[in-house]
Amino acid sequence: MRMVLFGPPGAGKGTQASSLSQKFGVPHLSTGDMLRAARKAGTAVGQKAASFMDGGKLVPDDVMVGVIEERIRLPDCTRGFLLDGFPRTIPQAEALNRMLANHGQKLDAVLSLEVSDGLVVDRLAGRWTCPVCQATYHKVTLPPKLSGKCDKDGAELIQRSDDTETAIRKRVEVFHEQTDPLKEIYRSEGLLKSVDGVGTPGEVEERIRQALGA
Ligand code: AP5
Repeated sequence: MRMVLFGPPGAGKGTQASSLSQKFGVPHLSTGDMLRAARKAGTAVGQKAASFMDGGKLVPDDVMVGVIEERIRLPDCTRGFLLDGFPRTIPQAEALNRMLANHGQKLDAVLSLEVSDGLVVDRLAGRWTCPVCQATYHKVTLPPKLSGKCDKDGAELIQRSDDTETAIRKRVEVFHEQTDPLKEIYRSEGLLKSVDGVGTPGEVEERIRQALGA
């Protein structure tokens, strides 16, 4: 299964990704997580990405295409992958098609989580993230069992540096300008499956299973 999880910031892509990646037995490839790991490690990619990310802007296409090209060549992607956060622009989508075609492959589905801009701002402003395993929580809708600690590994939860109100608004604006147009392209290719992303994470998961016939 080669699938793209599509949707605005805060749509719940990361929240849904872990169960989907287990279900299909393919790795969850989050470009946001990869960039944050690169920043933490102080690599050239991480240093280049930092100011774009904190300002809520997109990291340049050539950097992102290089990151994904390198990642999907690894052996754990032989059976497929679940892309979260890529592609985000038309040049990225074209590059992904080229990469896959070079290996005689193609995408199987693009799953779009539909949520309103207002809901996204509420979700991101209340999000807490585990810096170790990347699990996400929400102060109201999905609190950790022990306040401020990750349920999985007990690490101290943090707020992402791009989850400020200014950066969130910029990310939503950038999504509408540069990423949302991809939906029509994938719809015209018969790949798009749209799912209502409003409801509990369990309700959304169930809709995704139905949409994918899984
Ligand atoms: P990235 O990390 O990909 O951020 P994003 O797309 O903005 O997505 P988020 O992680 O914020 O949201 P999500 O949809 O995963 O929501 P989540 O499940 O966490 O990218 C960050 C930055 O990196 C970009 O701005 C850019 O600079 C750069 N970048 C990355 N990829 C790039 C690319 N391809 N090209 C260029 N630049 C790139 O949920 C959010 C919150 O809501 C959580 O608190 C969660 O608990 C809660 N929640 C989730 N689902 C529900 C529900 N059903 N009900 C109630 N609460 C819910």
